[in-house]
Amino acid sequence: MKINVLLISKMERTIGILRKMIDDEDIFIIGDTVGGSLALDKIENTSPDIIIMTLGAGDTDVLSLAERIILHRPRTFVILVAEHLDVDMMQSAVKVGCHNVIELPNSPKDFSDYIKSVYNNENTRLKSLNEKDNLLWSSTVVSVFGAKGGLGKTTIAANLAVKLAEKRKKVALVDLDLQFGDIHIFMDIEPKDTITELFQEVVTPNIDSIRSYMTVHSSGVHVLCAPKSPEYAELISAEKVLSLLSMLRTYYDYVILDTAPSFSEVNMTAIESSSLIFFVTGLDISILKNSKLSISLLESLQQTDKLRVIVNRAVDMNSITINDVQKIIGYPIWSKIPSDYKVAVNALNRGVPFVSGAPNSKLSQSISELAETLISGKASFSPKENKIKKKISLFNKK
Ligand SMILES: Nc1ncnc2c1ncn2[C@@H]1O[C@H](COP(=O)(O)OP(=O)(O)O)[C@@H](O)[C@H]1O
Ligand SMILES: [Mg+2]
Repeated sequence: MKINVLLISKMERTIGILRKMIDDEDIFIIGDTVGGSLALDKIENTSPDIIIMTLGAGDTDVLSLAERIILHRPRTFVILVAEHLDVDMMQSAVKVGCHNVIELPNSPKDFSDYIKSVYNNENTRLKSLNEKDNLLWSSTVVSVFGAKGGLGKTTIAANLAVKLAEKRKKVALVDLDLQFGDIHIFMDIEPKDTITELFQEVVTPNIDSIRSYMTVHSSGVHVLCAPKSPEYAELISAEKVLSLLSMLRTYYDYVILDTAPSFSEVNMTAIESSSLIFFVTGLDISILKNSKLSISLLESLQQTDKLRVIVNRAVDMNSITINDVQKIIGYPIWSKIPSDYKVAVNALNRGVPFVSGAPNSKLSQSISELAETLISGKASFSPKENKIKKKISLFNKK
C-alpha cells in the first residue's frame, strides 16, 4: 500500500505538527500548501490519494475548499483535522459532504491507522465503480411511491433523506417526479443543473459526472432535481433512469427516490430497481381505493416482498381505522405518520425540512424512527405476515 498525502493548512506551525504526526512506511507526504487557489493547483499537479486539511472554528474557507474537492475529485479523500473539535465544526463538515473529521490524534500510530482506514473504506466504496461487481458496496435504494398526489410522498422522501444524512450516511435524493417534481421547494435549493442537463450533456454518465449535476443541500444530502419544465420529462427514458440508479447505488449508502403517482415506465424501473418501496397511503376511501389498485399492480409485477405500507396523516378520530386500511388494501401497515398541518406547512414555507427545523415534533420523531429502522437493517425484513390473509381474518371462526 502506498498512500500519497497532501497537507493543507493556513499555519506553518500546524503543517509542522502534521508532518511529525505522520510516520508510517505506507504513507507519503507529497507536499503541503496554505489553501486557496494555490491548493487547487497543487492538487491538480500532484493528484494525492488523501488530502488532510486543518479545520478551526469558523473556517468557512477551509470548508468550501473541502466541498470543492469532494464534489470535483471524488477519488481524492478529504480528512479534516481539528485541534479542538466541537459539534458545530462536525456538523458543518458533514454539511459539505466530509465525513472524515477528527481531532488531532494522540500518537502518530493512531493517526496513521486512521488515515489507512479512511483510505481503505473509501476505496472499497469506489472499487465497485471500476468493476462489474456492483454488489461490493451495498446500498439501499428506497422508492417513495403512492397512488395519488398530495399523500406526502415528497414530504417523507425529503425528510427521510435529511435524517439519514444527519446520521452521517451518504445520501442521494432523486426527484423522479419528472413533470412536477418539487423536491427543490421542500429543500429550498435552486439547482443550476437537473436530471435534464445531466442526460443532455453526458452520453454515458459515471458517478463523477452524475455528482457534478447534483446540488448539495445544507444537510449534506446530494439532490438530483427534476427537470425545470414538464416538457423535458419525456427526454428521460427508463433505460437512462436504470443506468443512473445503478451508478448511484455504487456510491451512496442510501438512494431515496421521490416519485410521481403513476405506473409510467420510469416509475416501474425505479420500483424494480429499489430495495424497498415505501408505499404511502392515507385514511380516506378514495385514496384507499386507488392504493388497493396500485398494490395489485405491484403484485402482478412481483414487487410486494419489498412493499412497506406507510399511512400518512394517521389521526385517531378518523372514521376509518388502521385496521380498516389493512383489510382494504390487504397488507399490514408498517408505519404510521401523524398529521401535523402546522409543522408540515411551516417547513414547506420556510424551505427547511421539519426533521431539522422542528426536530422535536411528532412528525420528525416518526421520520427518525423510519430512518433508524433503515439503518438497523430491520426494514429489510418483511413484516411477519406481509400479505394479510383476508379470508381468514374475515371469515374464520376463531
Ligand atoms: N403528516 C402530515 N401532516 C400534515 N400535513 C402533511 C403531512 N404530510 C404531508 N403534508 C402536507 O401535504 C401536502 C402534500 O404533501 P407532498 O409531500 O407534496 O405530497 P406528494 O408528494 O405525495 O404529492 C404538503 O403541503 C405537505 O406539507
Ligand atoms: Mg410529490
